[in-house]
Amino acid sequence: MNAPWKSGSHGNRDAFAAYVCDETSLDVLRPVIIEMGWQPEKCNKGGLRNAVQSLSISASPNILMVDLSESGDPLNDINALAEVCEPGTVVIAIGQVNDVRLYRDLLSSGIHDYLLKPLSPGQIRDALVNAQAIFASPKHSDGASAKSHISTAVIGTRGGVGASTLATSLAWLFSAEHKVPTALLDLDIHFGTGALALDLEPGRGLTDAIENPSRIDGLFIERAMIRANDNLAILSAEAPITAPLMTDGSAFVQLEEEFRQAFEMTVIDLPRNMLINFPHLLSDVNVVVLVTEMTLASARDAIRLLSWLKTNANHAQVMVVANKVQPGAAEIGKADFEASIERKITFSVPFDFKAAANSAKLGQTFAEANRATKAGGTIRDIGKAVMGASDGLESSSLAPAKKSLLGKLDFKSMMPSKKAKAAVPIPLEAD
Ligand SMILES: Nc1ncnc2c1ncn2[C@@H]1O[C@H](COP(=O)(O)OP(=O)(O)O)[C@@H](O)[C@H]1O
Ligand SMILES: [Mg+2]
Repeated sequence: MNAPWKSGSHGNRDAFAAYVCDETSLDVLRPVIIEMGWQPEKCNKGGLRNAVQSLSISASPNILMVDLSESGDPLNDINALAEVCEPGTVVIAIGQVNDVRLYRDLLSSGIHDYLLKPLSPGQIRDALVNAQAIFASPKHSDGASAKSHISTAVIGTRGGVGASTLATSLAWLFSAEHKVPTALLDLDIHFGTGALALDLEPGRGLTDAIENPSRIDGLFIERAMIRANDNLAILSAEAPITAPLMTDGSAFVQLEEEFRQAFEMTVIDLPRNMLINFPHLLSDVNVVVLVTEMTLASARDAIRLLSWLKTNANHAQVMVVANKVQPGAAEIGKADFEASIERKITFSVPFDFKAAANSAKLGQTFAEANRATKAGGTIRDIGKAVMGASDGLESSSLAPAKKSLLGKLDFKSMMPSKKAKAAVPIPLEAD
């Protein structure tokens, strides 16, 4: 909590203390506290007022849980708490009011988390583990509230090019190596592999969100997302393949909005058909990682997708990542590929069969399982480049390199065989 320090108190702070109004909640809380290795006597009966009274005469704990249920004006009482709490104390509020505005106001007044009653052991455990990580992490100086958020959409030119491999790897790198709170949203609703790559069950969170977009708020995402590590939460589905996707896309936009508030990075695994159906998904995205292979079909679709992005998401910084690159064994060489898409390939990730197998075997993302490989190293570079992108970036990367038709003509003329010529319907979209 960003509170002024209290003079005269120093030394041994307790790891934890709680001030909870009702016995039912205390009964749920105590066993979890014992499990965490803390003293159950630190779970006091009483609410926010009692917390303020006690802490005005004793050192505040590292993690403090306070019940707002009996407080008529929680925000005001929180300010009173801030005056008696030592800096660094991580405060978890609990209450019975399910109101996003209150939740946001509490967060902006320095509260770390808000748990809704009735409490459940799992919910308390998650919140405490998270609070411990926050307490242990290096403290930001005051004024860190205006954090910027980077939202990255990873789009494959075609299925199988490695978009999900990249998306899960980037999410893992941001969260585990850069220690930045990250959300991974897997919008391959029926066949997504985000959870699978992290060795997790997808849960029902995303399906619930699609079915009930009006329920999406900070508390909803807190509960619905599956935690992959201290800094990574994922929302994905393995929707039954007997049912078509019934959504107007509003749930996805709302989720993106909530992620902006709750995380510093969002990674969206965005199948290209979702982009056709829900173009507004790209409206707040800062970075687009367009993943491609060095094939004819991928070149065609890279051209079409780049053109789409130029028209519909010109604010986003676009990186073209060639994946599964095998020197000497590509359908289309690098120079020709770049000429046809009229821009440079930003990163080339080598084809590495062993690395892919290793990732599957370990149940870890490609980047985590293959730290020492060239492919893993390049994905790390992509991660750094995304982290370096910021909200205001201009989209120079999308600017046409030269006047357009030429590149497309080159592309046509380089096709070796009749078959290939016939098979290349070069899209001559109006730019
Ligand atoms: N650089 C690479 N080298 C070898 N195999 C790769 C590479 N990148 C991805 N793969 C493999 O390709 C397959 C398809 O990848 P995936 O990320 O699911 O593609 P997409 O999401 O674009 O359909 C996976 O089995 C993955 O392990
Ligand atoms: Mg995929």
